[in-house]
Amino acid sequence: MLPLKDPKLLKQQVFVNGQWHHANVKDMLTVNNPATNSKICDIASAGINETQQAINGAEQALQLWRNTTASYRANILKHWHDLILENIEDLAVILSAEQGKPLEEAQSEIRYGASYLEWFAEEAKRIYGDVIPSKQASQRLLTIKQPIGVVAAITPWNFPNAMITRKVAPALAAGCTIIVKPAETTPLSAFALAELAQRAGLPSGVFSVIIGLDPIAIGKTLTDSPIVTKLSFTGSTKVGKLLIKQCADTVKKVSMELGGNAPFIVFDDADLDAAVQGAMASKFRNAGQTCVCANRFLVHKHVYQEFTDKLVAAAKKLTLGNGAKSGVTLGPLINEAAAQNVHTLVSDAIAKGAKVQLGAKPSNLGASFYPPTILTDISTNMRVFNEEIFGPVAPIIAFESEQQALQLANTTQAGLAAYLYTQNYARIWRFSENLECGIVGINEGIISSEVAPFGGVKQSGNGREGSKYGIDDYTEIKYLCMGGI
Ligand code: SIN
Repeated sequence: MLPLKDPKLLKQQVFVNGQWHHANVKDMLTVNNPATNSKICDIASAGINETQQAINGAEQALQLWRNTTASYRANILKHWHDLILENIEDLAVILSAEQGKPLEEAQSEIRYGASYLEWFAEEAKRIYGDVIPSKQASQRLLTIKQPIGVVAAITPWNFPNAMITRKVAPALAAGCTIIVKPAETTPLSAFALAELAQRAGLPSGVFSVIIGLDPIAIGKTLTDSPIVTKLSFTGSTKVGKLLIKQCADTVKKVSMELGGNAPFIVFDDADLDAAVQGAMASKFRNAGQTCVCANRFLVHKHVYQEFTDKLVAAAKKLTLGNGAKSGVTLGPLINEAAAQNVHTLVSDAIAKGAKVQLGAKPSNLGASFYPPTILTDISTNMRVFNEEIFGPVAPIIAFESEQQALQLANTTQAGLAAYLYTQNYARIWRFSENLECGIVGINEGIISSEVAPFGGVKQSGNGREGSKYGIDDYTEIKYLCMGGI
């Protein structure tokens, strides 16, 4: 059992229409701790019936919720935010146990997740329309923004708290109702959020959390439903493409936050200590399991060796271990398959000529652990250059000119984040404008914030989460043309 001050936060049922359902107790879904490879608990698995009930409940609840005032919705979101922060220690214990990240990092995620509730509680009051000057003296033209309706959200395991609030908060603020299907590996954080939402006074059916042994059937029920008018997904590009296809028949609006392959570019005029600090934060946060992680380090040949030496020295200070233990700064990967996949990518690079500066050997701490790894002499035919690594591996490649760096940076199909370290302001502008991505960190390794737009271009997806733009994905613009004036 997890050491919780409030054991009621550890829920083992799905949450449908304001009720905790035992669903199908014959089929249990097991939630494991990736650090110890032991069972945390079993969850009663839901299926198509419960998903349909959640959809119907969300449709019914929408009639009430969309007609509440913005300040009513804002007060509930704000209350939910406060309850999350009051319970941050328990929520971090649950999150760290099911996901693996160190407790301190789990607390940071929970604060980050809660910040979306506070931000969108405030934005709920600022969903403005327009008055458009008409070409006819007898007309007045207006726009209003209305909630898009019933939303489905499919969320990932790497941020089991924040990726839920980043979707749920703008949806609820806009007056939509929402059904969340969290990742099968990390449903407990989602359930704990639902418990606190209920305590905050969120009406039944406005927010449901559904999970089961057959996620494909649950996903298909959500995407096939004509009642669901929008899907928001965070996850792999492969699954995102499939979901877009599934949403085509009902012409749903989709927001896709898909995989990245962020270049981290260090010029020879960069402050190298700052670059290393940024690299450590960007690369090793969540053991390298973030979509905006630095995936490829492009370093000018004049500072290649010095940057590598400094990065190796900094990475050696990381402490790999069970995230529940104090002093641990790098947790396990989500499971054994993830660690094996990372090792396969590293082995491919070594076989093609990469040199190991640090790590690159499976850890003896357990099958889900992978040590901080730094590889040099990377070339563009290696998988670590072309694929999202999703692990604590830093491949470094040297470049000679700005033009070459840009070409290398833009060469993949992903376009989520990029990082740029230089002191030259003209280059900062040139480069930032020419990078094919949605987010640029300039002399900064941590770019995520509820106040700024998060999202990608190319095959990293569409839509923006957070910021003043984040609510747009959950509203429709209605144009009113008034004649006879
Ligand atoms: C992600 O990896 O999907 C999100 C990371 C973040 O919000 O920083």
